[in-house]
Amino acid sequence: MADHAILSIDGKSYEFPLVTGTENETAIDIATLRGVTGGITTLDPGYKNTGSCESAITFLNGEEGILRYRGYAIEDLAEKASFLEVTYLLIFGELPTQQQLDKFHQDIKEESHVDEDIKKILDGFPKSAHPMGVLASLTSALTAFNPGAVNVDSEEEMYNAMVKLLAKFPVLVAWTMRKKKSQPLDYGSDNLGYVENLHKMMFARASKDYEVDPVIIDALDKLLILHADHEQNCSTSTVRIVGSSQAGLFASISAGISALWGPLHGGANQAVIEMLEGIKQDGGDTKKYMAKAKDKEDPFRLMGFGHRVYKNFDPRAKIIKKSADEVLEKLGVQDQVLDIAKGLEKEALEDDYFVKRKLYPNVDFYSGIIYRALGIPVEMFTVMFAMGRVPGWIAQWREMRLKKEPIGRPRQVYVGETLRAFKDIKQR
Ligand code: CMC
Repeated sequence: MADHAILSIDGKSYEFPLVTGTENETAIDIATLRGVTGGITTLDPGYKNTGSCESAITFLNGEEGILRYRGYAIEDLAEKASFLEVTYLLIFGELPTQQQLDKFHQDIKEESHVDEDIKKILDGFPKSAHPMGVLASLTSALTAFNPGAVNVDSEEEMYNAMVKLLAKFPVLVAWTMRKKKSQPLDYGSDNLGYVENLHKMMFARASKDYEVDPVIIDALDKLLILHADHEQNCSTSTVRIVGSSQAGLFASISAGISALWGPLHGGANQAVIEMLEGIKQDGGDTKKYMAKAKDKEDPFRLMGFGHRVYKNFDPRAKIIKKSADEVLEKLGVQDQVLDIAKGLEKEALEDDYFVKRKLYPNVDFYSGIIYRALGIPVEMFTVMFAMGRVPGWIAQWREMRLKKEPIGRPRQVYVGETLRAFKDIKQR
């Protein structure tokens, strides 16, 4: 294959090198474009064709439905690894030895307290506040309790910042839910695994010994792994771009949480269950909703369907669908909404509109059904997505900072008014 691309403008041609990744993805390196052409830029709303960085963390092939973290297939990781192992893998690039994992977990436990004053901030929110807003605010507030910039040249400072976040985030997640339910807060236990401890902080009752069905912890662990990273999606790009201004880790992650909240991104898992419930209450007529999704005059979209990158299938959706069947059966939960979801999927996969546009169920289509079976309230679904995505955000932030990437700052093509004479207010 050629090693450069040629761009021709007004009879002049310019050469740009091609960059090829380890999986043979090719990009045109346009770093010199504005300089050599005298200011010409590229235009790509939604960055559908634009690579923002070179990254060694996650590989995704949307045509073939491949997702790998640091070279390991998502199917293997979901089946064989724990969420904490995957966290270590994403951040440091290798699966941990038992000793490395134990130390990592111990370091996290040491940092798992949050300042008592965080509770005052939590108290200030109305009960009606959406948990994602509360979580973003509390994560940002961690900056105030842990001031000081992280020196990226110090391995120790980088490590400490990441461990602090991994330790305190589950506390914020759990307390956010407790606030919504007006329940007393729980402080967790150092005797439990990372995910079990998260579950305890969310669900334990002060008056009762904490016990949990391992089926629940396994399902939660798997869901968190499946959400742990997804290369340069909206929230991850947000984390990287905020971090590129050298804002701190907590501030960058807080921005990522806000980006994730939207219904076209992580907020879709809540939107899916609300949509499925709506269909159920409307008599379960899936055909009616399929027609609405296809009607260009109707703003309704089939939530949990379609993906910017996956154009064949979303490998996470395959794993989650299987897991939904298993978990509901093991827990003895019957959910009519699962049948509605399966019906919608079947119809969509046979429908020209969806086939032509390569729209398949994404990670969010079945995840809410499992969350619900695990007793997690609907408004917490996107918070659980954030909990899972934290290792990916941290890994991407670390990679960006260690590479000393420049501040993220896209260009634009200005299409507004040209210079106008100022008019006095009486003449307007
Ligand atoms: N229902 C009906 N039509 C759809 C849907 C849908 N869910 N998704 C895309 N389309 C149509 C869209 O109307 C357009 O049609 P046309 O070419 O006739 O104008 C075509 O498919 C391409 O859609 P697009 O919006 O240009 O594609 P995109 O890559 O910009 O958007 C998406 C990707 C995920 C935002 C979109 O598919 C969507 O809104 N899906 C529903 C929300 C959702 O499930 N989001 C979760 C994404 S996965 C979790 C995550 O990582 O965030």
